[in-house]
Amino acid sequence: MASSNDIRAAFLDYFARNGHTKVASSPLVPRNDPTLMFTNAGMVQFKNVFTGQEKRPYVRAATSQKCVRAGGKHNDLDNVGYTARHLTFFEMLGNFSFGDYFKERAIPFAWELLTKDYGLPKDRLTVTVFAEDDDAAAIWKKVAGLPDDRIIRIATSDNFWRMGDTGPCGPCSEIFYDHGPEVPGGPPGSALEDGDRFVEIWNLVFMQFEEGPPGTRVALPRPSIDTGMGLERFATILQGKHNIYDTDTFRALILASAEATGQDPDGPHAVSHRVIADHLRSTSFLMADGVLPSNEGRGYVLRRIMRRAMRHATIMGSKDPVMNRLVPTLIRQMGAAYPELVRAETLIAETLLLEETRFKTLLDRGLHLLAEEVAALPDNPASGTGAIRLSASGQMTNESAKAPLPGQVAFRLYDTYGFPLDLTQDALREQGRSVDLDGFNLAMAEQRTRARAAWAGSGDAATERVWFEIKEAAGATEFLGYATETAEAEIMAIVVDGVSADSAPAGTDLAIVLNQTPFYGESGGQVGDGGIITGPDGLLIAVTDTQKKLGDLFVHHGRVEAGVARLHTPAVAAVDHPRRTDIRAHHSATHLLHEALRRKLGTHVQQKGSLNAPDRLRFDVSQPRPITADELHWVEAEVNARIRENSEVTTRLMTPGAAVELGAMALFGEKYGDEVRVVAMGEPDGNKPAWSIELCGGTHVRRTGDIGYFRIVGEAAVAAGVRRIEAVTGAAAEAVVAEIQARLNAAAGALRTAPAEVPDRISTLLEDRRRLERQMADLRQKLATGAAASAAEDVGGIMLTARNLGEVPAKDLKALADSIGKQQGSGVVALVSENDGKASIVVAVSPDLTGRVSAVDLVRVASAAVGGKGGGGRPDLAQAGGPDGAKADEALAAVRGALLNRA
Ligand code: ALA
Repeated sequence: MASSNDIRAAFLDYFARNGHTKVASSPLVPRNDPTLMFTNAGMVQFKNVFTGQEKRPYVRAATSQKCVRAGGKHNDLDNVGYTARHLTFFEMLGNFSFGDYFKERAIPFAWELLTKDYGLPKDRLTVTVFAEDDDAAAIWKKVAGLPDDRIIRIATSDNFWRMGDTGPCGPCSEIFYDHGPEVPGGPPGSALEDGDRFVEIWNLVFMQFEEGPPGTRVALPRPSIDTGMGLERFATILQGKHNIYDTDTFRALILASAEATGQDPDGPHAVSHRVIADHLRSTSFLMADGVLPSNEGRGYVLRRIMRRAMRHATIMGSKDPVMNRLVPTLIRQMGAAYPELVRAETLIAETLLLEETRFKTLLDRGLHLLAEEVAALPDNPASGTGAIRLSASGQMTNESAKAPLPGQVAFRLYDTYGFPLDLTQDALREQGRSVDLDGFNLAMAEQRTRARAAWAGSGDAATERVWFEIKEAAGATEFLGYATETAEAEIMAIVVDGVSADSAPAGTDLAIVLNQTPFYGESGGQVGDGGIITGPDGLLIAVTDTQKKLGDLFVHHGRVEAGVARLHTPAVAAVDHPRRTDIRAHHSATHLLHEALRRKLGTHVQQKGSLNAPDRLRFDVSQPRPITADELHWVEAEVNARIRENSEVTTRLMTPGAAVELGAMALFGEKYGDEVRVVAMGEPDGNKPAWSIELCGGTHVRRTGDIGYFRIVGEAAVAAGVRRIEAVTGAAAEAVVAEIQARLNAAAGALRTAPAEVPDRISTLLEDRRRLERQMADLRQKLATGAAASAAEDVGGIMLTARNLGEVPAKDLKALADSIGKQQGSGVVALVSENDGKASIVVAVSPDLTGRVSAVDLVRVASAAVGGKGGGGRPDLAQAGGPDGAKADEALAAVRGALLNRA
């Protein structure tokens, strides 16, 4: 029996042998199409290649593409588990020609692969062609030799394939497998075509047109080929089964589910096992591609699928979470073909566990409420309590139409118990009961009205009203920036000068909101992204910043550089990659810095604020005293050691409680939601699974080595008990080092020495300088005393030596006055000097004279002459100063005058 993995490999190998490049599946979240919720066909990643907008280095390709059809246009969720063919996740095998071959090769390729490589008997195959497509019919006849009644012409849209309302399209030809007359059903196009006898296995699309806005269809540059074969459905044929869930991959998952729940895989709970098997695949693959459960957009579809599966686990009586225990089986089945599953294994298992644990209590209570409400319905006499939980056959009852569940109840289940509408519908399905959808929608609308009224009364500034209105109309922005830096999107709002606008021409400064964006909105200290938004007719918007409004509305601020921005037109948003790379490095370095500081200084170190910009980081922490140079050096070295370790940086989703238990640093006083992102980096350490673990919504490097190099450039106080550290990483750190080197070189140049000799040279110079200063002081003293001795004058019978010493340091004056006084004997010494424009004065009176004249009086008189205010000291020695150094001589004259006037 060919396993699903063999079938996939045989398909890709066949086309590789025939000149096709094997191309990896694109992610489930389309990067190149804002109108699609999930990738739903193999051609999605090649959409722009068909239209000629994008060039690839090959013209033939083959893929096995991951597809999800749940939510959005194609939604198979409701049928999963109950039919033999519906899945929310499937693999589409396809071969593609981009203007290379057309029908004449596509048909023979398909025929040869099916009949030779896969060995299907020719008489089991029937094909359809678009009614007008004579070429295709003729090629089939020639290549396959099929009789006319097995080349069926179909006139309806069934044989004209479209990606969506717009995009590449063309006539198609479908290949059917005939299970034989014992199975009820008729050939395609017949009244009995919906039976199971003829099953479509492969669709060959002859891409010829691009559908634009309604009524406009243009020819593609060159006719192309897009084909799609559902792997799971095809496996039923090669494995001789009728039901997708009996094929190998599903059987393995169902057996795992049976083991985890203790319920017979083929017993009354078969439907529940199937739902779990399918939903495990879609939810795991979505998470591997970066979608995480949330209450908006794609994340909400993911959550809905999970919760639907979780209800089925509950139906089977499982008390503990089940889904996470099946992940290893899924990885064994599909991990080799899709390595992204292996990489995300922990994230997938932990997220499933978290979601199931949290939802379980609500689920039990909600199901209880539902059973009560159903029992109270008029067509259901009170006996029915509990029927829903117990009955799980999944079979529709044939009872006559039953009263629908009131919309209000379904809304209460949604609002209070987290029951997505489809979960309630699924729960009622087995009773043949529906939900009053109008009532549900009404209740939803009423809740919105209440929310608006509450907001209007909350006193938010009127300028914020515009964002509230936009959010109400457009919904939250879906952030794609953890997984990608470029994405297509739709322009949902344009705001110019605080007012919503329909368009904005070149030269306008504007704020713009998209339905989804890779741009990070400033939060948690990480600055908002910049980049460009481009669109039709040469639209180019330079985005300088991105901010978040009302929690999850991402507002891009920028200017229209060219073209015109128009509401509800497509756009491509591309983050400035080098800038984001630098921001990432700084943010991850902040985590390492935080941990290193706590290890060095103690756990009192708490984050008080942070900034992660492209060129620097700033980190404020609670810390009572300055951090010493040695401590900073230790911290810097530690961070760099972790960088060189180059360990993987991982992100997981958990409850805040689980995160803290894991050793994550939560920010005190910060409000966290039900789920938090937990960023871990560095090798495991003691009990902790990683060196640093923090709750963080920011974007981070893949491996610590990407930070490059870390350098602290400043440490200072910002408030009482709060120190601020500034640091740089990567190129910015390199620039800092280069600057330090340049300064050192300049210093060495000025000192005429080598950079390595600079410190010694400076010590020598300082030593020399001290020696010279000492010598100068000596010389000055000698000079002053020598000159003074000859300059004594008799003033009214008292010998006075009065000297202006020029620039002699003020601190030397007393010693000079002393030594002059000693030489002079009985008398007065008055000295002034002038430094930096200020005057300093010292007056000394010999002890025999202090009864007649006081040094303090004299110095005051002198000080007044230079604009000073008094002075002080003892009767034998006093000093003063004054701002007016230029009048130093007048100070001496004042002393002289005071001595004369003494009588
Ligand atoms: N794009 C085509 C399909 O999805 C092959 O059926």
